[in-house]
Amino acid sequence: MSRVYYSNSGSEANEKCFKMVRQIAEKKYGGKKHKILFRERDYHGTTITALSATGQFERKNQYGPFTPGFVEVPHCCEYRAQEGADLENYGVWAANQIEKVILEEGPETVGALCLEPITAGGGVIEPPAGYWDRVQEICKKYDILLHIDEVVCGLGRTGTWFGYQHYGIKPDMVTMAKGVASGYAAISCTVTTEEVFEMFKDPEDPRMDYFRDISTFGGCTAGPAAALVNMQIIEDENLLDNVKIQGEYLLGRLNELKDKYDVIGDVRGKGLFCGFELVKDRETKEPVDESVSTAIGAHCMANGVIMGRTNRSFREFNNTICMSPALIATQADIDVIVEALDNALAEVAPNA
Ligand SMILES: Cc1ncc(COP(=O)(O)O)c(C=O)c1O
Repeated sequence: MSRVYYSNSGSEANEKCFKMVRQIAEKKYGGKKHKILFRERDYHGTTITALSATGQFERKNQYGPFTPGFVEVPHCCEYRAQEGADLENYGVWAANQIEKVILEEGPETVGALCLEPITAGGGVIEPPAGYWDRVQEICKKYDILLHIDEVVCGLGRTGTWFGYQHYGIKPDMVTMAKGVASGYAAISCTVTTEEVFEMFKDPEDPRMDYFRDISTFGGCTAGPAAALVNMQIIEDENLLDNVKIQGEYLLGRLNELKDKYDVIGDVRGKGLFCGFELVKDRETKEPVDESVSTAIGAHCMANGVIMGRTNRSFREFNNTICMSPALIATQADIDVIVEALDNALAEVAPNA
C-alpha cells in the first residue's frame, strides 16, 4: 500500500518530500540523517529549497544562499561522459560517483537521494544501462530513501504510468504533478510507501506522530476530481499504448533528422518525451550557441508548433531541443512536429 499527500505544484510536492526526510531524520536518527542528495542537471522546482536541490547553475544563479544539507552528485549523461569515466560500463560508473559523495559526506548524515527518472529540463537524459540497479543497491546499503521526482514523467509521458517503471525501481517516495490531471487542474502528489508512512508514528509523542504539514489548498477537491477523470481517460483510450507507439515513431523520425543535419549531435528520449542536442561539431561535441536553439524554437513557433528547449539552465548547455506532444498525438501530429523542425533546421542550421 502507499500513502498520498496532495498539494498544488511540483515544487510543493518535492518540498513536502524534503520535509518528510527531515522529520524522519529527527524522529529516527536524532537529526543526523538529514542530508538530501540531488543530481547535477536535474530540476526539482522553483522555491528556494527545491532550487537548493536543483543541479542547474543558471537556474539557481542569484537566488542563494540555499538551504543547507543539499548535496550535488554528478550527472549521468553518457553523451557528455565525464573525463576519466569508464565508458564500457558508464551506468555503473556514474552510480558509483553517488556512492563516493555519500562516503565523503558520511552515510550516517545522508537521508535521501532525489532523482528524476529521466532528467527532463536538464536535457532529456535517460540514465544508461546498469545505473538504476546500482543506485538502488547503494541506497539499500546506506539506508538512504530513494525519492523519484516524476513531475515530468508521471502519468503516462514515457509510455508507462511512471518513468521509474521502465527500470525496475522500487522508490520509497514519489512526487508527481504535471500529468496528474494533464494540466487541467493544479494538483500534485507526494506518495510514500507504507514503511515510510510508519516512520512518522510515535506512540510516546502523539502530538508529533504524523507529517505535520498544512496548506490552504491541500484539501481542495477539484484537483483530485480532475485527476480521477484524467486517469480514466488515459485507461479508456489506451493512451499509454499510444505514447509507446507514437514515441517510437517520433524517435525514429528525429533520428532521420540527425542523418540529414550535422548540427544534431545526439537524439534522446522515451515515449512522447524526446529531444536532441545541437553541436557545432560532432567530433568535439561543442554545443551550439544558445541563439541557434532559440532561433529553431522561434521558427517552429512561427509555423504553429510550440517547441521546448533547455533554457536558462546551464550557460553552456542551452543547446537541447525538446518536445512533449500530447498523449493523444497521432502519427499525423508527429509528422507536423518533425516537418516544423525540418524546416527550422534547414533555415537556421543547414549543413555546410
Ligand atoms: C522534474 C521537475 N520537478 C519539479 C518541477 C516543479 O514543478 P512546478 O513547476 O509545478 O512547481 C518541475 C517543473 O518543470 C520539473 O520539471
